[in-house]
Amino acid sequence: MADVVLGIETSCDETSAAVLVCQEGRAELASLVILSQDVHKVFGGVVPELASRAHLTALKPVVAEALNEAGLPLQAVDAIAVTAGPGLVGSLIVGVCFAKALAEAGAKQLIGVNHLEGHVFAATLDDPYLEPPFVALIVSGGHTLLLDVPRWGKYSVLGETRDDAVGEAFDKVASMLGLGYPGGPEVEQLAGRGRDRFDLPRPMLGRGLDFSFSGLKTAVLYAVRAAADLAAERADIAASFQAAAFDVLSAKTRAAVERTGYSTVVLGGGVACSRTLAQLMAERLSGAARVAVARPRLNADNAAMIARAGWFHLEQGHTSDLYLEASARMPWPGLERSASSSSVGSKP
Ligand code: KG4
Ligand code: ZN
Repeated sequence: MADVVLGIETSCDETSAAVLVCQEGRAELASLVILSQDVHKVFGGVVPELASRAHLTALKPVVAEALNEAGLPLQAVDAIAVTAGPGLVGSLIVGVCFAKALAEAGAKQLIGVNHLEGHVFAATLDDPYLEPPFVALIVSGGHTLLLDVPRWGKYSVLGETRDDAVGEAFDKVASMLGLGYPGGPEVEQLAGRGRDRFDLPRPMLGRGLDFSFSGLKTAVLYAVRAAADLAAERADIAASFQAAAFDVLSAKTRAAVERTGYSTVVLGGGVACSRTLAQLMAERLSGAARVAVARPRLNADNAAMIARAGWFHLEQGHTSDLYLEASARMPWPGLERSASSSSVGSKP
C-alpha cells in the first residue's frame, strides 16, 4: 500500500508544502508549492521576524494548494514530515506547530526532519535509483559540508567551512557588486558575461578537506575598491570570484572521491542550483565519479526534499511525538564528526 507523505518546510524565507506518494521503494512527487517571501529583498537579507509572520499567513493556503495540485484530500495523507531545524527558530516553530496540529487532529504520523538531511535526499527525487555509497557536497546559505554517505541515514563529515558558507559568500559578493538578494543567481548570471582575469585566492586548496571563504570575500572587496570603473569591471570580478569558489569546491570534492573510492557525487543545497557548478563538477570529476544533481527547484529550500527524507525515517520507524521541538541548532541524526571540528551550525 502507498504511503502519502505531506512535507512542510519553513526554516528560512520559503513557505513550502509538497505531497509524495511512496510505494514499492519509489517516491512519486505529486505536488510541490514554494512561496518565496519577496519582502526580504527590500532589506538585502532575511529579516527573521518578518519571515515568521509571513509563514503564519502563507502556510495554510500553501498546504491546501499542495493537496489540491496532488488531487488528494487531507484524509489521504498518512504522515507529515516537517523541518524541525536547523534554521530561524521563529520560522521553524510556525511549521512545526502547524504539522503537530494536523497530525494530532487527523491521527497521522509526525516526522521531524533535519533540513540538511533533506538537501542530501533532494537528488533522489530526480534520480530514484540513486543509492549510497556516495560523496555529498551540501552547499547552501548557511553550510558548506562534504560528507561520506556509506548508506542512507549515515553521514560522516569529511570537511566543512571554517568560517563563511559558500552561499553566504555569494550573497555578500552580490551586495558588493550592487546586485540584489539572494545574490547567487545574480552573480552566476553576471559572471557568465565576464572573464576570470583577477587573480583571486583559492583558500585552503591542497590543504585537507575543510573550506574557508572569508578571505576570498575580502579579496573581492579589495578588487571592488580598487576598480577604476566598477560598472565596466564587475562582470569580470563576478567571474573571477565564482571561478575561485568553484575551483576549491571541485578540487576538494575530487579529493574526497579519491579518499573514499566512491564513484558517485551528490550535490545539494541552494548553491547546487548553479548550472555552472554542476557542469564544472561533471568536467572535473569525469572519469572518477558521476555527478547527481536535482533540478534547481529541488535544490533550493523546498518541502519535497523534506517529505523524501521524512519517508526514509518513516520506513525506519523513526517518528516524532507531540514533544517535537523546533531547534535552530537541531542535531542531525546519523551524522558523525571528528571531535575537533565545530558543530554543524544554526543556519539552514
Ligand atoms: O539551501 P538554500 O536555498 O537556503 C539555505 O538553506 O541556506 O541556499 C540559499 C543559498 C543563497 O546563499 C543563494 O545565494 C545560493 O544558495 N544560491 C546560489 C545560486 N542559487 C542560489 N549560489 C550560486 N549560484 C546560484 N545559481
Ligand atoms: Zn537549505
